[in-house]
Amino acid sequence: MATDANKFQAIISHCKEYGFIFPSSEIYEGLQAVYDYGQWGSELKKNIKDYWWKSMTQQYENIVGIDAAIFMHPTTWKASGHVDNFNDPMIDNKDSKKRYRVDHLIETKAEEMRNDGRNDEADGLLDEMDKLIAKDDFDGLRQLIINRGIKCPISKTSNWTEVRQFNLMFSTQIGSVSDESSEIYLRPETAQGIFVNFLNVQKTGRLKIPFGIAQIGKAFRNEIVARQFIFRMREFEQMEMQFFCRPGTQKEWFEYWKGERQKWHLSLSIPESKFRWHPHAKPAFYADNAGDIEYEFPFGFKEVEGIHSRTDYDLKQHQEYSKKKMQYFDSEINQNYIPYVIETSIGLDRTILMMLSEAYAEEDLSLPTGQAGTAEKQDSRVVLRFPSKIAPMKLAVLPLVKKDGLPEIARKIMDDCKSHFRCFYEEKDTIGKRYRRMDAIGTPFCVTVDQQTKTDDTVTIRYRDTMQQKRIPANKVREIVQQSIQ
Ligand code: GAP
Repeated sequence: MATDANKFQAIISHCKEYGFIFPSSEIYEGLQAVYDYGQWGSELKKNIKDYWWKSMTQQYENIVGIDAAIFMHPTTWKASGHVDNFNDPMIDNKDSKKRYRVDHLIETKAEEMRNDGRNDEADGLLDEMDKLIAKDDFDGLRQLIINRGIKCPISKTSNWTEVRQFNLMFSTQIGSVSDESSEIYLRPETAQGIFVNFLNVQKTGRLKIPFGIAQIGKAFRNEIVARQFIFRMREFEQMEMQFFCRPGTQKEWFEYWKGERQKWHLSLSIPESKFRWHPHAKPAFYADNAGDIEYEFPFGFKEVEGIHSRTDYDLKQHQEYSKKKMQYFDSEINQNYIPYVIETSIGLDRTILMMLSEAYAEEDLSLPTGQAGTAEKQDSRVVLRFPSKIAPMKLAVLPLVKKDGLPEIARKIMDDCKSHFRCFYEEKDTIGKRYRRMDAIGTPFCVTVDQQTKTDDTVTIRYRDTMQQKRIPANKVREIVQQSIQ
């Protein structure tokens, strides 16, 4: 079994080898922190999106979904604070010419200290960093890096520049004339598309507070330190929900959504011990409370989802900049007000990495015996133990041999199932090899059609996780698979 240290590398290789995730434009050496989802990765992604969408809209009568454009009027980002505040302190190494996020450099040093058992020292270092960041003390941050002997991982020197702020938004030009007035941004979060549409949706949907608006979509950030595969990307997807509530009720709604979202994560069959709640000691300038749901990735506990109590900041800002009223009339208390907002914001790609990390297993096997001539002879296997509801492929239909009418029977099973869920048909190679390929992409069920099928209309169903096999009537396959993916 891979250790945590190399499990992550094994997952990255597996994703490429089995068509889940490829480096973007790989034939041109790739593009840092940008990835493409392949045939199984895109199915997995779609299933997670659908699951989130259903959980967050269908399950709550007072939440609706929208799909806003990526391009927005540039004033949106002035109003939201992204033009002035969406910055990270960066430092360059003069010898390697590489640029780093200051907090990442210091966190890496703290991790090294922890690995040496110097936990108190690591905590002290991070505390000091937090204090300096809170004060925007860039000279202090540079001194901290130098004093703690933090070196560039490439040049191995401490020849650092000053610390400077870099804005993380990508910009481009709209229209045919390229001048300052045509500059627009690729959205760095999907949330603002919800805020600017708040009244459109509330009025046309005749929604009463409290209510939520959900959205799934791409976001773009010019992350400087791009590492950890799809954990930190420059182009990624978010699944966000803004919940509009009466001012003064935000504390209770924050607790409510924290609980609801924690339950959602557990519903993905991940043990509770793999999650922890990380409250923000100093929430962002627009929030009065915030925290993260962290998952234990092979490289440690890291944020998957943020829950933020965003106050009335965003709507107020849009009201000020657009000069359009962003108020809601609450007929229960006969008052106009700008609602407060609780946001749940989860990264789709990080959720995929969480599911891959949880599902990936390398198993040593000693010859389990199958039935009906389907013995699996293999010493080891790599299996993705996805919950059936998010597995890219639900069922593989496999005729034991390519003759004697078995492919025709298998095709009939395919026809019965394929409009209900994603199925895969394969007749090439030994049955053992075919099972192993299905394990590697996480297919929960395989059915094998053999000579006995011709006499009694039964097939062998083989379960991915236990590798157990049993005979079932061929006309029950659809029902069994459907039940498991509810
Ligand atoms: N609207 C609030 C917001 O965007 P955030 O904490 O910056 O908050 C929310 O982002 C989530 O988006 C994170 O918890 C993470 O899962 C995901 N995310 C943020 N930056 C990302 C990146 N560069 N690559 C992949 N996912 C990212």
